[in-house]
Amino acid sequence: MSENWNSVYQDRPYVEKNPYEGVIEFLKLLREKGKREVFDLGCGDGRHLVYLMREGFSASGMDYSLWGTLRTREWLNREGLQAELVCAEAANLPWPVERFDAVFSIQVIHHQRIEAIRQSFSEVKRVLRPGGYFYATMPAYPPLNWKTGLYEEIEEHTFIPLEGFEKDVPHYFFSQDELAEALSEFEMLDIKKESASHLSALVRKVL
Ligand SMILES: C[S@@+](CC[C@H](N)C(=O)[O-])C[C@H]1O[C@@H](n2cnc3c(N)ncnc32)[C@H](O)[C@@H]1O
Repeated sequence: MSENWNSVYQDRPYVEKNPYEGVIEFLKLLREKGKREVFDLGCGDGRHLVYLMREGFSASGMDYSLWGTLRTREWLNREGLQAELVCAEAANLPWPVERFDAVFSIQVIHHQRIEAIRQSFSEVKRVLRPGGYFYATMPAYPPLNWKTGLYEEIEEHTFIPLEGFEKDVPHYFFSQDELAEALSEFEMLDIKKESASHLSALVRKVL
């Protein structure tokens, strides 16, 4: 599936240059709590890694798209910034236990089937230090503006586009209750509908 995203990053570098509003808020919380080592799970072509470093955090990023990580590296280099950056899968994070103070993931984890999503949440918990924060966004169920016929529901709440650049890439849509349940190993701090089509959750790894 990473080839799908490679084609995006190859064809139009820097899909989005500005940080997501929720990440800006998340970094305010981290600063307030004295958290410094932050991991961007699914960094895409780098907008949040660059932002993290400009804001003075120690940043690590990961994406399964090689082109995404290459674009990210190019951008960091241009700005003279150094971040740890790897190409890997969300469900199998290449870091030791309790490596980070905080993790965030913007529109990434839902691009998997539910088993891999649950595994990804366990991985986040594993790499977080006790008391560490995790902020994530994902699409809300039911899907909005998904055209009938162009997508197939391959299992409950999992849709696969049959055409376009996301062809064959799973999209899992969470109800708020399901997302809360999937994150029940964490302490829930906030869960909400962030927009008409998206949910966000802010959780903490309990001590
Ligand atoms: C919608 S983009 C978001 C990128 C970035 N988080 C941002 O906000 O700019 C989704 C990203 O998730 C990555 N991705 C999707 N599934 C993944 C997986 N299983 N493991 C790692 N990265 C994944 C894609 O390569 C793509 O860069």
